[in-house]
Parts: sequence; structure tokens; C-alpha cells
Amino acid sequence: MEKKPKFYITTPLYYPSGKWHLGHSYTTVCCDAIARYKRLTGYDVFYLTGTDEHGQKIEERATAAGKTPKQFVDELVDNIKKLWALLDIKYDKFIRTTDDYHVKSVQKIFTQLYEQGDIYKATYKGKYCTPCESFWTPSQLVDGKCPDCGRDVIDAEEESYFFRLSKYKEPLKKLLTQTDFLEPKSRVNEMVNNFLNDLNDLAVSRTSVKWGIPVPFDPKHSIYVWVDALTNYINALGYNNGEENMDYWPADVHMVGKEIVRFHTIIWPAILMALGLEVPKKVYGHGWMLFGGDKMSKSKGNVADPFILAERYGIDALRYYLLREIPFGSDGTYTDEAFLTRINADLVHDLGNLVKRTVSMANQYFGGTVKRPKDIGGEYADMANELFAKVDKAMNKYSCSEALEAIFAFVSASNKFIDANAPWTLNKNGETEKLSAVIYELLEGIRLIAGYLLPFIPSGSERIFKDLGLKAPESLNGIKFGDTKAFKVGEGEVLYKRLDIKKELEELNKVEQEDKEEKKEEKEEKPAEVKKEISIDEFFNTQLKVAEVIACEKVEKADKLLKLTLKVGEETRTVVSGIAKSYTPEEMVGKQVVLVANLKPAKLRGIVSEGMVLCAVDGDKVVLVSPERVVAPGSEVC
Ligand code: MSP
Repeated sequence: MEKKPKFYITTPLYYPSGKWHLGHSYTTVCCDAIARYKRLTGYDVFYLTGTDEHGQKIEERATAAGKTPKQFVDELVDNIKKLWALLDIKYDKFIRTTDDYHVKSVQKIFTQLYEQGDIYKATYKGKYCTPCESFWTPSQLVDGKCPDCGRDVIDAEEESYFFRLSKYKEPLKKLLTQTDFLEPKSRVNEMVNNFLNDLNDLAVSRTSVKWGIPVPFDPKHSIYVWVDALTNYINALGYNNGEENMDYWPADVHMVGKEIVRFHTIIWPAILMALGLEVPKKVYGHGWMLFGGDKMSKSKGNVADPFILAERYGIDALRYYLLREIPFGSDGTYTDEAFLTRINADLVHDLGNLVKRTVSMANQYFGGTVKRPKDIGGEYADMANELFAKVDKAMNKYSCSEALEAIFAFVSASNKFIDANAPWTLNKNGETEKLSAVIYELLEGIRLIAGYLLPFIPSGSERIFKDLGLKAPESLNGIKFGDTKAFKVGEGEVLYKRLDIKKELEELNKVEQEDKEEKKEEKEEKPAEVKKEISIDEFFNTQLKVAEVIACEKVEKADKLLKLTLKVGEETRTVVSGIAKSYTPEEMVGKQVVLVANLKPAKLRGIVSEGMVLCAVDGDKVVLVSPERVVAPGSEVC
């Protein structure tokens, strides 16, 4: 048997940092449709998705949720897997950057690059964006702020390992400007002008991040999250671990949102060049799904919650909307109204009616059995036979929206074909042969439509095949109008129910309100945490003393922490405290606080903290506990 050509497609590895929203579903559903299309057109496909689980942001979220980072990500990973099952996503592998084989391979890659001189150790001085965990050169800043998130940057200096990214400037330039590596082409200039022309070596380790993969030969450093995350694309294939699926490499396409094109088209190919591996054939930077004018994000309310939409309106509705509504490559705005209108117009009115009307007529006029006429041909048959080329052209550009546009143009043409031929009149006039030919042609048209829709709305397509009394095809190659000898159709079920848009909008609003209320109640009702009872002796094991703040400064690269210098009797102590969101360093100096004086010292952001100051915590508010009147520093609190 002839060997199938290989096709490797990937989504980004999503951060499990909060609720999954429609934006994540967008990339995953697009990749799923492309993967299904390739399988149905003769490719041996490997579709990879997964989660990117390390880094400071995740560590902070986990702490805020009172969980360990691993517990925190485990729950979100379970949840995203449920979402992919709900949306009928058929991936071949799900990789987690906390998977053991991945961690080992990342460490091996880092060591290899170090040993061959592509990674070296130096001191980094520069502008650092804490939330993005990125260093920037002054010329990369936009209005003095982080070019990725627009937030303030700070001056930072740290010992770091560097990747010799600058060494790859010329081959990268060639790759970006002389090949089709990056699509859409409109993103190439941005990469070259904003990043490539001013390419510096890249800091690829952090001493401040604990939740990460340690540099194996210098474990106080964690490997930079992007080096960890990007290498997943080869580690998932068994790189450094048996190479079991490395024959899928190079990837045919890495599908990513436009905000992470830079990492995929500059850092990633340079790492691959350093490893002596081929670069991916293509990186496709798609646009964003906007919500109320902004990039959709978890803070935008649950109406754009894929769980709610899929459960309420069905997988076909959600998949179809995601694949059809936004012209691939551009941004598009989600609104409930546009979503519901799209479903009513295309799925209910055009597709649903076409199938229902045709199958009903086949039953009504011919008892469900319709045979192929002697002569087949004409404009409608030609249109049907031209459809595959259009779909294929669109899918080779990875444009699901364009493919669906072509299929639905043919759905409309089919509805017009019914009206133009008026089967009810043919029936009335006793033109049975012509009537049979018209119904046959319509059933054939629907067969092609259902076939070409298989990658996009697989469950709807299957139901249409059932209506036609046929099995869904295993391949879309070589399907020809007129190939079916006879149809024995089913009952003609209603594929999609018409939605009352006004009512549905009210319902969605209600669901959103209920969800908000529920969250509020959960917050309000959460019982105060009751800790285990302790004896008075146990309590007196804690030594509490009054201390006076004699100096205070911010802790670099940690927006919640202040470093306090405390006078406790004759002694001076350093304490790191998470109060920077509530107090400035200036207002702290001179305050009296209560210190847990016999707490075991701990290192926080490289500073040894000798104790802890007591605070009252009221939601986001953190308020210091102080003696009611000034007392001598060092006084016992009991
Ligand atoms: N962890 C990195 C990627 C590492 S890849 C080796 C990351 N994760 S993320 O959770 O922030 O996911 C970003 C991706 O999710 C985007 O690039 C895009 O594919 C998808 N989307 C998230 N929100 C989106 C929209 N609002 N609109 C379209 N896609 C969106 O970045």
C-alpha cells in the first residue's frame, strides 16, 4: 500500500491560569477542522495540543488559590480536556510541560546548547516586565512600557544564561523574508522591523522563578518558560526519547494567535537551527476573537464561555460559528447576537431546510427510493463538481472560513435549484421522470455538501448521511456528482431548530447574571476557615514582638513585596512582606508592627527574611496590625 504523506499540526500550549474561554476554543477547533480535512484527503496526520504549565504567573495564581502549582494546573488541565471532548476535538497527543519526558528533554536540549556554546552565562542588565517575565531592550519598549502587555518595566540585573540568538539573525531574516514560513504575509514586516533588526542574545534562565524546569548543571536557575514551552513541539514526537514520531518533523503548521508569532518565528527557528533540526514549514498567526472591542479574556463574562454555548446550542453551532464567522487571519468580534443570527441563517435556514425539504420530497413523491437518472449533467452538476477544488484551495491556505463560504454558497444554490425547478409543479403535471432527476440531483448535491462538511461539523454531517441512507465517506478525494446509484432516504429529521433570537438573548443574559450571582454567593458564603485547636503552650511557642520599621524598599521584580528593616530591641532584622499593594515604602518608615520573631528564616527573591509581620486580610485589603499606643521596640506581645 502506498505510504500516506505526513502532516503535523499544532496548537499553542495553553496556559492553565484561569477559566478557559472561547478564544482558546477558536485555535483548537480550527486546527481540528484542518486535521480532519487532511485525514479525509489522504494524509497521515499528527495533531498536537496541550498545556504550558510553568512560570511565575501560574505559581502566583496557585498561591492565591491556596493550592500547590501542580494541584492548580491539574484541575485546569482536566477541565480543558473535558472541553475538547465536548467540542469533538480529535487530537493525537496532549502534551503537558510538566510531563516527565518533556522535562528531561528540555534539560538535555539546554545542556547540549550550553556545551556547544550556543548558551553562555553572563550578567543581564535591562528592562524587565514582571508579568510577562520578559527582558526588553530600550528600543523595543513602546512609550517606555512593555511592548507585549503595555505595563511598566523595571530596571533589573541578574545572572542569567543567554542563548546566542543574535548569531541567527541572517538566517532568520532569510527565512522570514524569502520564504512562506510566516503567514499571513502582513505579519512579516512587523517581525523584521520590531524584533529582528535589533536582535540581541536572549536571557534563557531565571533565578527568580521557582516553578520551572531547573537548569540541570546549575539548579538555582529555572529554564525560561518559552524555551521550555516551544520545545514541546519536538518533545511530543519523542525527541531525546526514542524519536518514535520524529518522522512527522518538520511540522507543517504551528497555528498560533498573533501575539505569540514573535516567539514562534524568531526564537523557535533559532533554537532549531542551533540543534541542527529543520525549521517548521509554516507558522500561521491568526487574528483575535474580540469581545466588546478587546481581546477576549476570562474577565469578560461567561456568555463567551464555550461550555455554556456548546451545551445550550450544540457542538455544530459552536464549531460552525468559530470556523465561519472570522475571516481567517483577521480579528473578529464575538457577540451573542451575531452567534445566534449566524446559526439561524446558515445552519437552520439554509442547510437544515435544504435537507429537510429534499428528504421529505423524496419520501412524498417516491416513497423514499430515488434512482440515478440516465443522463446527468447541467449547471447544477457542474457547480457540485467544482466545489471540491474550491474547498481544497481554501484548506491549503488553512482558511476554514473560506472553505465554508464556498460550501454554503453551494447550499444556497441548491435551495435556488429547488425553487427554479418547482418539484411540486412537476408532480402536479405528472412529469415523474424530470421530478425524479431533480430530486436525485438534490440528494447528490446534499451528499457532496455533507461530505465536505465532515471536517467542520462532523456530527451534523453524520446525521445528514443518515438521512440520505448512506455511510459517511472515508475519503473526500475523487467524490463525483452522480456516483450514487440509488438513495433510500430516512425520515428527514430536523437537523437544527430555529432559535428565537430575542428570547435566547434574554436567556443568555440570565445565565450570565446567575453565574455572577453564584460567584458572589460562593464568595459570601465561604465559611471562615477554622484551624485545628491548639493548646495555650502551643500558642506561646510563637514569639511575638513589637518592631519599628527603620527602612523600607521595594523588592525588585516582585510587585507585591516590600523589604523592611526592623528595629527589635537592640537587634536589627530584615523581613520581606507581601504588603506592597497596600503600603508604599515611604509610609512604612516609622510604623510599629507586630513581628513573629522566632519564625525560621526563609529566602524570598534572594533575600533572607527573618520573621513575619502580622496583617489583617480583608479580601484584597491587607492592613498591618500595630500596638494601639507606641511602645519600646522589642516589647513582647502576649
Ligand atoms: N503558553 C503560551 C503559548 C506557548 S506555545 C509553545 C500562551 N498561552 S495562552 O493560553 O495565552 O494561549 C494563547 C493562545 O490561545 C493564542 O495564541 C491563541 O491561539 C489562543 N487564544 C487565546 N485567546 C484568544 C482570542 N481571544 N482570540 C483568538 N485566539 C485566542 O500564549
